[in-house]
Amino acid sequence: MKYTIAVIPGDGIGPEVTTQAKKALDAVAEVYDHIFLYKEALMGACAIDKTGNPLPKETIDVCKSADAILFGAIGELKYDNDPSLKVRPEQGLLRLRKELGLFCNIRPIKAYAKLLKNSPLKKEIISGTNIAIYRELSGGIYFGEKETSKDGLSSFDVCSYTVEEITRITHLAFKAAQNRNKKVTLIDKANVLETSRLWRKTVAEIAKQYKDVAVDFMFVDNAAMQIVLNPKQFDVVLTENLFGDIISDVACVIGGSIGILASSSVGTENALFEPIHGSYSQAKGKDIANPIASILSAAMLLEHLGLHDEADAIQRAVEKSLDLGITTQDLKGKNQYAASTAKVGDFIADYITNQEDSNMNFKNIHMGQSTII
Ligand code: IPM
Ligand code: MN
Repeated sequence: MKYTIAVIPGDGIGPEVTTQAKKALDAVAEVYDHIFLYKEALMGACAIDKTGNPLPKETIDVCKSADAILFGAIGELKYDNDPSLKVRPEQGLLRLRKELGLFCNIRPIKAYAKLLKNSPLKKEIISGTNIAIYRELSGGIYFGEKETSKDGLSSFDVCSYTVEEITRITHLAFKAAQNRNKKVTLIDKANVLETSRLWRKTVAEIAKQYKDVAVDFMFVDNAAMQIVLNPKQFDVVLTENLFGDIISDVACVIGGSIGILASSSVGTENALFEPIHGSYSQAKGKDIANPIASILSAAMLLEHLGLHDEADAIQRAVEKSLDLGITTQDLKGKNQYAASTAKVGDFIADYITNQEDSNMNFKNIHMGQSTII
């Protein structure tokens, strides 16, 4: 089959990790006889530099006409450190989410057996953790009215939600739970916020339609603690935009590195796939960033296209690279040999193509002796 994939490399390490994801997709195309047609588009700081606009119209058009979107990362230090700037890279991503109606962000958090030691959390606490975070992505405080007073002495951001916005993601979360461990935990702040009370009421009502799924409600402050104290109690976590942003970064600690966590953002028409990590500008161009989050985002993209075997092939290759320790420095100890971004990508693509028949000598690669490294 032939598919068009919009590719938005973005800023910082975005381009290098996205290149590795494309290598994995190309390997899949070869093995499974598909054609992936990539259409590159600008967004973020690089788009501001070239066009003055963090989300040029052309980018929206490319995304709308594609079968799926692969996105790298957004943001640059010079913008982070200057809050007075009116045009910011992140506006590109937020507008794209809104423009494409990407209301549901799914962030799987898994404790890989090989990476238990990489987490600062005790292995008996995290081992076996498997959470799917369903974060509402196109509403809440991110998109409410916002303003700073003329004298610069006060400002506000409005958080608002409609029953309709809550309902559509809630159904997706419950349907996902039916195919998993049959539990949904809504994270909110219903003891304080009106919007959270609307979430609770709406979710409780919808839960009645899913008798096979248990529902639990948890305040976000407690949830931030529970997710590191006892992450195994969670199956599907459902939450609003800002809480989801924060809780998913906290949950990344379980995986051992934020560099391995992928996500999908879906709407009714379009779907975008991106690492959870940011642009990590300090590492830009150094060939040290972990490409696995981007590569696993490509696997989620294939899953979305209904290409399940193909997605599995990427998953298996990633797991092999973790098993063999062919990983970047974020997953290594101080004096351990780390592979570069490109080499991890090469290995994963090669494993997809050749599987166990691979010409590579895994043992030597593991020891850092092979010429491939
Ligand atoms: C994320 C990011 C974005 C967000 C930023 C870059 C706007 O942190 O995808 O989690 O806050 O949603
Ligand atoms: Mn975030």
